[in-house]
Amino acid sequence: MNIDKKQMMHWVQQIEKNSNANDHILEELIACKDQEVALYLYNIAAEARKKYYGRDVYVRGLIEISNYCKNDCYYCGIRRSNKQLKRYRLTLEEILKCCKDGYTLGFRTFVLQGGEDTFYSDEILCGLISSIKTAYSDCAVTLSLGEKSFDSYQAYFRAGADRYLLRHETANEEHYKKLHPDSMSFKKRKQCLWDLKKIGYQVGAGCMIGSPGQNTKNLVEDIRFLQKLKPSMIGVGPFLPHEDTPFHIYPKGDLTECLNMIALLRLLFPYVLLPSTTALGTLHPQGRELGIQAGANVVMPNLSPTSVRKLYALYDDKICTGEEAAECKDSLEKRIESVGYRVVTSRGDVYGFHKK
Ligand code: 5AD
Repeated sequence: MNIDKKQMMHWVQQIEKNSNANDHILEELIACKDQEVALYLYNIAAEARKKYYGRDVYVRGLIEISNYCKNDCYYCGIRRSNKQLKRYRLTLEEILKCCKDGYTLGFRTFVLQGGEDTFYSDEILCGLISSIKTAYSDCAVTLSLGEKSFDSYQAYFRAGADRYLLRHETANEEHYKKLHPDSMSFKKRKQCLWDLKKIGYQVGAGCMIGSPGQNTKNLVEDIRFLQKLKPSMIGVGPFLPHEDTPFHIYPKGDLTECLNMIALLRLLFPYVLLPSTTALGTLHPQGRELGIQAGANVVMPNLSPTSVRKLYALYDDKICTGEEAAECKDSLEKRIESVGYRVVTSRGDVYGFHKK
């Protein structure tokens, strides 16, 4: 074994011990393509996860409530300017039906995700959240509905929402401007995350790996931002092009780089809830299993009605768009079990491990 490999494995051990590393070391490990070093990193990360979470993998039922969006992010298939896309919006009854089916299947977290659809007023959303919490008081409600005012976030929290996912997308302002039109603001995005924390949500941030214009230094900046924010959840997945966006010409994110990031995030944030994403499963047939083996501990099967799944297309070739909720959960469970982990149905809160 050459000295570089030995050196890198030593760095991995140090990160595991200190939950930190300098920028140079992080850059080297994020970009590392050596399979032996990478596998070592994943194994150490998987061990670190076991200290907190054993072999448990949490499931979240994802309900994609609307593909209308007022934003125009260059990477995203449901951006406002995509005129090819048929738009849909679920009714309150349809959403509650998804929760009902999900509850029967054993889900104890519902994630309401959607584009920034102005149709859903705060009043409608608060009604929806409290209906779900009343019917399923043992369940957590996670929102993933984009940027809102402090008051709106607070109203949803008071209505019973427990968690909020809002990826910061990139912690570098120049890079942010390459991914978003001028109408969107990097400062606003970050402010939203701080607002959510202040209100008391369990907050999830995160970014795409391999988005156009991103370099390894940017990913280190993402890590530094996350270290300041101290989120309960971190969602990362590969950038995947969508044919009807300005970014259709760019290549997909790299699998090894995604897995390296997942493993490093596990070592830097041992307590964190870290999903193995649908985008990772789309990038590679065993992507989600590989993510779990690199330290991820959450999966988010789709609970949306089959009729709308293909329409919630953030990127091309998204997997599981034809499956019923039950099949979707079953097939994921089998995949997770095949690599030695077990899917559990508890709410899976981060507390107990981590002070907000
Ligand atoms: N490829 C991968 N991920 C994407 N997202 C949006 N568009 C894409 C894409 N083309 C991610 C963003 C967003 C989350 C809901 O989906 O990071 O925050």
